[in-house]
Amino acid sequence: MQIVHTIADLRAALATALAGRGRPAFVPTMGNLHEGHLSLIRLVRQHGEVTVASIFVNRLQFLPHEDFDSYPRTWEADCAKLQAEGCDILFAPREADLYPEPQTFKIQPDPALADILEGEFRPGFFTGVCTVVMKLFQAVFATTGGGTAVFGKKDYQQLMVIRRMVQQFALPVDIVAGETARAEGASGGLALSSRNGYLSEAQREQAIALSRALKTLAEAARQGGNLAVLEAQAMQALRAQGWEPDYLTVRQRGNLLPPADATTGELVALGAARLGGTRLIDNLEF
Ligand code: PAF
Repeated sequence: MQIVHTIADLRAALATALAGRGRPAFVPTMGNLHEGHLSLIRLVRQHGEVTVASIFVNRLQFLPHEDFDSYPRTWEADCAKLQAEGCDILFAPREADLYPEPQTFKIQPDPALADILEGEFRPGFFTGVCTVVMKLFQAVFATTGGGTAVFGKKDYQQLMVIRRMVQQFALPVDIVAGETARAEGASGGLALSSRNGYLSEAQREQAIALSRALKTLAEAARQGGNLAVLEAQAMQALRAQGWEPDYLTVRQRGNLLPPADATTGELVALGAARLGGTRLIDNLEF
């Protein structure tokens, strides 16, 4: 695996590896890689000739009170995992490589999609995500005529926002969605996330309550009844177990708007809640 830090070195490495044939398959990450990321690597490599992963903890998508400084950075372990998965190129820009000057031009995503749910509780989050993803796409795909990038369904709204950005800017990037990887054993079913590392052993076992609450909400929604009432009940049930929920809600897939009728159609239940100091998100398509 070749490790590069600058955009120029990345493009040179891609030119050599592709040798004029095929396109790259790309997985952007913020590092602290777990099985969820590795499953995305395995998925995306089927969609391109050269597999590229990036590791960059993107300051722009963190609010001032959030965990940018303490976000887990596990460089050696991440490199070993990517190497073992057969990743061809690791792009690990330093902050000055990606943001050589203050990033005053930003991607402003559609507020109808980006200012709800995560965007409501983390204002500016999707501006930060879209801006860095646009920069990463430029770095990886500008000289290769495009390619494929994978995003996990665990960050469901992020996947929708990126899809819409790619569509509106007609970017030559095919977006592939990866299924959420889940823990086995005592915390079985817990969606894998770098932030799970903040949980104690006891909290990890408790954390499965979020995905259970989404399943219960989805089943109740399918039976009919007032959705707002069902959502409030789901939040109350989580609160009773010591959580602080931001939202538990049923939405239409794709546009993430509330459905007129939840008994039918392609829907998704999404939730975000804090357990101790740790904010977790999860979702369930139904
Ligand atoms: O999902 C993530 O890890 C990040 O939001 C991403 C897409 C790598 C952008 O920083």
